[in-house]
Amino acid sequence: MKTENSLQKTLSLWLTVGLTLLWLAGVLASGLVARHEINEVFDSALQETAQRILPLAVTEILNRDAAAGPGRAPATEDHEEYITYLVRDNSGNILLRSHDADPSVFNTKPKIGFFETPSHRIYGDSAVSDTLFIEVAEPLAHRRQAAIETSLALLLPLILLVPVSLICVWWAVRFSLRRVLVFRQSLETRGNTDLSPITVTRLPAEFGPIATSINQLLERLRNALEAERSFTANSAHELRTPLATALAQVQRLKTELAEEPTHQKACEIEESLQDLSRLSSKLLELAKAEGGGILAEKESNLVPVLRTLVSDYDRLHPGRIQLEAADMPVTSLLDPDAFAILARNLIENALKHGSETDPVTIRLLQDGTLTIANSGPAIPPEAMPQLQNRFVRANNKVSGSGLGLAIVQAIASSANLKLSFYSPARGREDGFEAELNVVIRP
Ligand SMILES: Nc1ncnc2c1ncn2[C@@H]1O[C@H](COP(=O)(O)OP(=O)(O)O)[C@@H](O)[C@H]1O
Ligand SMILES: [Mg+2]
Repeated sequence: MKTENSLQKTLSLWLTVGLTLLWLAGVLASGLVARHEINEVFDSALQETAQRILPLAVTEILNRDAAAGPGRAPATEDHEEYITYLVRDNSGNILLRSHDADPSVFNTKPKIGFFETPSHRIYGDSAVSDTLFIEVAEPLAHRRQAAIETSLALLLPLILLVPVSLICVWWAVRFSLRRVLVFRQSLETRGNTDLSPITVTRLPAEFGPIATSINQLLERLRNALEAERSFTANSAHELRTPLATALAQVQRLKTELAEEPTHQKACEIEESLQDLSRLSSKLLELAKAEGGGILAEKESNLVPVLRTLVSDYDRLHPGRIQLEAADMPVTSLLDPDAFAILARNLIENALKHGSETDPVTIRLLQDGTLTIANSGPAIPPEAMPQLQNRFVRANNKVSGSGLGLAIVQAIASSANLKLSFYSPARGREDGFEAELNVVIRP
């Protein structure tokens, strides 16, 4: 899952990016609306101020001694003003000004209504038949700051929104995919020979068809393998009786034929029939090994099984086998019959393909590790990977079917055991060694 795109990661990332962009667009839109509303409120306040001050200013100017010159509105104390005003006559002479008013902010001639200078928003009004003008100014920076502060306040939740959205989406995707994960795990953990249907509980609708297709595929595969296995098993089984009959007849014929060349021919036919009979029993073993039933219901001790096998071979090839078996029981769920087939094929190979002068060493350690090693010419490295395929042989000097290692491999993979072959054998210059751990715990 590392290099591929994780649905969880992609969704969390893109949903969060999308949400952030939408939020930013929202902030922009509400910022514009807020600015418009702020302008309206500020304009109305500006207008209201002008209309309130004007009658007072007119009264004061008219009452004042004309010679006194432009006056300043009395300030309660020195303070900074947001809103400043000028009262002028129509030629622009200042008659009254607010305490902090800066005349350079205003136009040279008074104007009526709202207008803007680069730095201020101004409202002008007139009284006494357009002889007195009041202009009230408010710095634009003031409004700008109000709009910026409103927008910033809207941006603030983003700091929280981004991580919360990431976590929520991550969690929501994980939660909705939990059944898919269970499904994946049940696929991953099953052995490579387990073709039973996968039980699927309430998968999201998008994944349901995938599970159904996998189960259909598994069923088709199971049926095909089953058909192949039963064909092999049935043919091998059906061949047994005619083969045995033919063998018996050839053996009888052999005793009746005294002359050398024909007797020799009969012996050759007997040998071929025996090869055929061995092939058919190997095919039967292979069909059984691939057919399951490799695991028993309860554990059994495999040491006596191995000892019996070895003593059988020891009788046929005295002194050729060295056995080192654990003193304590080695218990496993591996079916004793399947274990016997596996060990027999490996021991047969070691005796058949190994050098006749050196012994075959068989070890079954307490931890369940079984190694069977022999000397003899090493197998070329390029031939090693194919050895366990059916009908593959690397030694044609002795007769054989090429099915021995295929049977061993079939049993090992049905039981999920790791099987290794080494040639040359480990710790030797030549030979062959097979190793696997036969312990399967419940
Ligand atoms: N113990 C062994 N020592 C040397 N070669 C072996 C051994 N076991 C298997 N091989 C090689 O692997 C090949 C495949 O083995 P197998 O499938 O049992 O077929 P077969 O024994 O009928 O030839 C053999 O032909 C042989 O070349
Ligand atoms: Mg063999």
